Amino acid sequence: MNDTAKKLIEAHGFAFPDTGPVRVFFCPGRINLIGEHVDYNGGHVLPAAIDRAVYLCVSGNAHRRFRFNDTGFGASGELELALFGGGSVVPRVWLYPAGALALLRSDWDEGLDLSYLSAIPAGAGVSSSAAVTTVTLYGALSMLGRPIDTAELARMGQRVEREYAGVACGIMDQFAVIHGRRDSAMLLDTRDLSFEYLHIDSSRIHFVLVNSGIRHSLRESGYNDRRAECESALAMLREMGAKIAHLCELHPADFERMAPELPPVERKRARHAVTENGRALEFHRLMRFGDYKGAGGLLYASHASLRDDFEVSIEELDRLVEWAAPLAGVYGSRMMGGGFGGCSITMVEAGAAGEFARKITESFRAAYGVVPEVFECTIGEGVGELVP
Ligand code: GLA
Repeated sequence: MNDTAKKLIEAHGFAFPDTGPVRVFFCPGRINLIGEHVDYNGGHVLPAAIDRAVYLCVSGNAHRRFRFNDTGFGASGELELALFGGGSVVPRVWLYPAGALALLRSDWDEGLDLSYLSAIPAGAGVSSSAAVTTVTLYGALSMLGRPIDTAELARMGQRVEREYAGVACGIMDQFAVIHGRRDSAMLLDTRDLSFEYLHIDSSRIHFVLVNSGIRHSLRESGYNDRRAECESALAMLREMGAKIAHLCELHPADFERMAPELPPVERKRARHAVTENGRALEFHRLMRFGDYKGAGGLLYASHASLRDDFEVSIEELDRLVEWAAPLAGVYGSRMMGGGFGGCSITMVEAGAAGEFARKITESFRAAYGVVPEVFECTIGEGVGELVP
């Protein structure tokens, strides 16, 4: 058990003195190297789990209630089991845990005590919500003694986002936080969830996140609008005769031929989906050969496409990418995640990461008057149980 887990177990004991024997689970956040906004368009994505996780300490109780405790924020609350299955509205702070428990079964007959401690920055675009949801699903299934199918677990997590949080997200985040592996990213085909690991040589390259500090909420942002625009583009292309089930299946040459007939918005969204899928596959190929410079160039191209065609970037993220480009050891940079805020991700030569962090912090502070959160990501393992 690490120190975080020990602290959590102690806090759990204080919050629930009459509780049963405890088990501790963890689920990491994720980064995405490339392949943005294509996971709901049948494209390829290349995420990795990070070594920052949310921890869950769970035990059974005899009170026929779910009792929640957030050790980091000092928030606590309880929900009657009877609420579950009734489609009740739960307090926003417990939306993800409660959504996860509600999805597992509507006939809970025993209560659970659940304490959370998160080391994942919230609202930064590293999937803290997928981690909270997944750790709850995984922990509760383990407590129930139910077998866990990892692809099914990812789909359940996606359903919680859709049905309880109102975000029509893809499956990348949930899949990544479940299947993460040390020093590996994963190339995932979102059509059938087939994937392969890509070794990341951490003695040569690092990924550094810089948080713009603009908190994005996917529900309030244009995420669902983008998704609807992609669906509209797909429907139009199919009407024009494209034999595709997903936007990303469109061959780039066919896109060029059909693009002039699409309205401007659909044309831009489709161009992003088609080109970003191509970039993700090419990035994977180049990284396997250790061509970091070539791969880094694709990160800049991805950013330009997210900014100009998909229109999900913001000024702060555009600046971060521009400032990163001339710095020593930088291979490439782009905005990461859903957009409208959150982090940039920069691929840097391992030895240059510290200096990069110092310089980018200085540029950001000079322009915006605040010191941004910068963190070097170590790629870690997916969801699991901590054994004493
Ligand atoms: C969010 C969603 C993901 C994905 C990314 C953009 O993180 O949850 O499913 O669509 O945005 O790539």
